[in-house]
Amino acid sequence: MTFLECLDLIKLYVDQQSKIQVPALRGIELTVKEGDLIAIIGPSGSGKSTLINIIGGIDSPSSGDIILNEEIITKMTKKQLTQFRRHKVGFLYQTPERNLVWNLSALKNVMLPMKLTGRWSRGEQIRRAQNLLNDVGLEGRIKHKPHQLSGGEAQRAGIAVALANDPLLVLADEPTGELDSTTTLKIIEYFKLLNKSLGKTFLVVTHDNRFANMTSRALRILDGRIVGLHRAIDSELSLDIREEVIFVDDHGNMRIPDSIRREANIKNHVKLEMREGFATIIPVRGD
Ligand SMILES: Nc1ncnc2c1ncn2[C@@H]1O[C@H](COP(=O)(O)OP(=O)(O)O)[C@@H](O)[C@H]1O
Ligand SMILES: [Mg+2]
Repeated sequence: MTFLECLDLIKLYVDQQSKIQVPALRGIELTVKEGDLIAIIGPSGSGKSTLINIIGGIDSPSSGDIILNEEIITKMTKKQLTQFRRHKVGFLYQTPERNLVWNLSALKNVMLPMKLTGRWSRGEQIRRAQNLLNDVGLEGRIKHKPHQLSGGEAQRAGIAVALANDPLLVLADEPTGELDSTTTLKIIEYFKLLNKSLGKTFLVVTHDNRFANMTSRALRILDGRIVGLHRAIDSELSLDIREEVIFVDDHGNMRIPDSIRREANIKNHVKLEMREGFATIIPVRGD
């Protein structure tokens, strides 16, 4: 049974000036297993935030469906979606200002989402918040307010907030966008650690290629499509060997990476021929 499934998600925005529809997602197909740690990597404007907001029930697709744990999110009413967001997903955004309430301590910040769902008694809220802050290495910072935390610490507090209601899924949108290199790697380590220790499913969207090696599977998103993936090759020697593969959809469509298109001087047409058992792409001149 698939845990999270996105079926042919399409999202069109209407450009306010020209009134023309702009596609942000052009048929996203995605499956995630429970307990997965998945990175979706792509440049700015590739549709990452749109995708994560739709999965988290903040935005709705123009067409397509999302199924999470046997519930069809895209068929939910507004009321159901509010409950879904509170109980089933945890969000982590790029800036601490968006993840944390500024005049509350780290502990109170983690307790806040629990207050909204009312699933735990006050004592349990405190205990859970302490444990979660402990899990992200902030046991010595529970009384600190966000401005007393470093950028990396604030993001770790944000992770604890995202986990507060024991969500099915944690969604992170550019969680290291404001952090330096060393801090970014540390945050990646915490994602890996929490994914393992709590068995929680994490979906991270980012432009940062360093997330590619974080997971057994990182997806590449470009122009609203999943175009490829970076994955660990099964190796009997258990060496960490990785490969980059291109996604071919059910209709046989694939995207030739820009670097190869440029180098091979491929314009709008190619010939495909079988040569010695390999499918060969041959640029066509004058197209
Ligand atoms: N509210 C909106 N109205 C119109 N266009 C939008 C809106 N939000 C995003 N877009 C467009 O959709 C595309 C994908 O945006 P986004 O999901 O924010 O990408 P990313 O997070 O990868 O930078 C971009 O071309 C962007 O300009
Ligand atoms: Mg974005």
